[in-house]
Amino acid sequence: MNLETTYLGLKLRNPLVVGASPLGDQAETCLKLQEAGAAALVLRSLFEEQISQEQQNLLHAVEDAAGSNPEATSYFPAYGDYQLTPDQYLRQIGLLKKALHIPVIASLNGSGAGGWTGYARRCAEAGADAIELNLYELVTDGTVSAEQTEAGMLATVRRVVGAVQVPVAVKISAFHTSPAHFALSLERAGAAGVVIMNRFLQPDLDIEELEVKPRLLLSDSSELLLRLRWLAILSPQLQKSSLAVSGGVHTANDVVKAILAGADAVQVVSALLARGPAALAGLVGGLEQWMAAHDYESVAQFRGIMDLTHCPDPSAFERANYMKVLQSWKT
Ligand SMILES: Cc1cc2nc3c(=O)[nH]c(=O)nc-3n(C[C@H](O)[C@H](O)[C@H](O)COP(=O)(O)O)c2cc1C
Repeated sequence: MNLETTYLGLKLRNPLVVGASPLGDQAETCLKLQEAGAAALVLRSLFEEQISQEQQNLLHAVEDAAGSNPEATSYFPAYGDYQLTPDQYLRQIGLLKKALHIPVIASLNGSGAGGWTGYARRCAEAGADAIELNLYELVTDGTVSAEQTEAGMLATVRRVVGAVQVPVAVKISAFHTSPAHFALSLERAGAAGVVIMNRFLQPDLDIEELEVKPRLLLSDSSELLLRLRWLAILSPQLQKSSLAVSGGVHTANDVVKAILAGADAVQVVSALLARGPAALAGLVGGLEQWMAAHDYESVAQFRGIMDLTHCPDPSAFERANYMKVLQSWKT
């Protein structure tokens, strides 16, 4: 049975990739993940703010990143609170490249203009097989348009792509008015792949202390549904770039669905944080079982067969399904 896939031009032994997270922090864990079947591993992100802090005066840089508001300096992690300094990050890439035989992907996280994008080159020099650029940004300024925001993001992508020879994937959010247009623009800007989609931090409110409480909950399979829709929409439209899914993959059935909808690579984080590296073997084994039961000999045979390639009007299809499901509810 052939589980091979090509992601960002890299030949992977199967579609399962460990997503950006603390899972890449310890070489021992990474070896277990590789043994369990991981086909590639994305390191946690190195943040724009963190690199800027190192490159410039610490306080000054944080003020810049937060819009020159002194109060905003307290929003950001203190320098020592980051798990890896930029230098340690580069060393971690080198260390994992020596320890593992699967591709190691560095993750840069930011969207603003600045010298931090030069770190892409340093990551590649340290041995990273690819760069995943996470454009996590929540635009809160009502005077800034979607067009301006996307233009800035694309300029950042061009800078990162221009700085390296290795492929660059871009991790995007679902909150673009036209995610398909943005994904195609990323392709034109030189991105070798698109990772869908960022899970946004959704802070809660503490009604006793009247404080905002940031919290990070692990996902469940329900979060995959949004991604399946966008995989199915993007897969026929992207001509050159790969598609990876990130968010809500917990079972082998989830892996199968993502591939049917058009994913070249399937990233997993929450399932592995909750159940440990060995859970990956269950995902690979379950994928093989499903393929055997359905007479598929290779992943390529069924990748994208449920995307919207043959749908003449995907927007009408989406709207029709929406209307049908609302009409089906009776009291
Ligand atoms: C503890 C934790 C740390 C994470 N750190 C990063 C990160 O540094 N950079 C990044 O792009 N995504 C990060 N993520 C997001 C994951 O890569 C992934 O996109 C998200 O968890 C959805 O996938 P999942 O449903 O498989 O967890 C992190 C997620 C978790 C749970």
